[in-house]
Amino acid sequence: DFMRDVSGLIAMEKQLKSLLGISKVLVLPQDSDDIPAVKSNIGKEAARLLEAFFPQYKKIAVTGGSTMAAISKELSSDKRDSLLQFIAARGGLGEDVLHQANTIASSFAGKTGGSVKTLYLPDHLSEEAYEMMMREPVIKEMMDLYDQTDVVVHGIGNAEEIALQRQSSTEEVERIRSGGAVSEAFGYYFDKEGKVVYRIRTAGIQLEQVQKAPAILAIAGGRSKAKAILSYFRNAAPQTILITDEGAAQKILELT
Ligand code: G3H
Repeated sequence: DFMRDVSGLIAMEKQLKSLLGISKVLVLPQDSDDIPAVKSNIGKEAARLLEAFFPQYKKIAVTGGSTMAAISKELSSDKRDSLLQFIAARGGLGEDVLHQANTIASSFAGKTGGSVKTLYLPDHLSEEAYEMMMREPVIKEMMDLYDQTDVVVHGIGNAEEIALQRQSSTEEVERIRSGGAVSEAFGYYFDKEGKVVYRIRTAGIQLEQVQKAPAILAIAGGRSKAKAILSYFRNAAPQTILITDEGAAQKILELT
């Protein structure tokens, strides 16, 4: 029955919060692997939490992915605030343009009346390109913004899927595999203990910058993401809020 379902979800939220050592966990009913509408519900909850930060926090860095796109759809136009600044947390990946951080940042800004800072670079840079980019004033400006970020909103990927999607070199895929990478976020690959085992050379936000942000929303659902979520949260900053679904939550609790 409905009340029992709700109390079951609340119990899961409590268990996960203490297991992961973070400030808040929201678990939406059912599993987005089976029911696409569950991803919209995750997006809706994340949008409400993010909007609650608007009066206090203006600089918001966002990554890409379908879950991030779901938030953007749910942002309400009556929370408009022209002082908001949405910052693409990373460059472009080899993925659908609608799911890139730049597109997501632009659409958050469009929905809320805020401004946008995009990072129109490939996410993955060669050493030479990286050295050169770091001297470019527009890139330096992005680095400063990442340093001042108030809120980071990001998805969590399955390491192997992301590595393949990014058309990584065979050598890189090998390093990611042999390092035992399970999850990926903002160009960092984490093993099942949450240790960074590989990182791409990117002009995007750095892990230290994410971890010092006053607020972090991590959003990922579906039982297929459970291992990745657990891996990422082994070492996530305590101020991180997880928004997920029952499918992922149940699987995480089974795995631990
Ligand atoms: O860029 C990929 C994200 O880390 C996860 O993507 O929300 O589409 O599963 P997703």
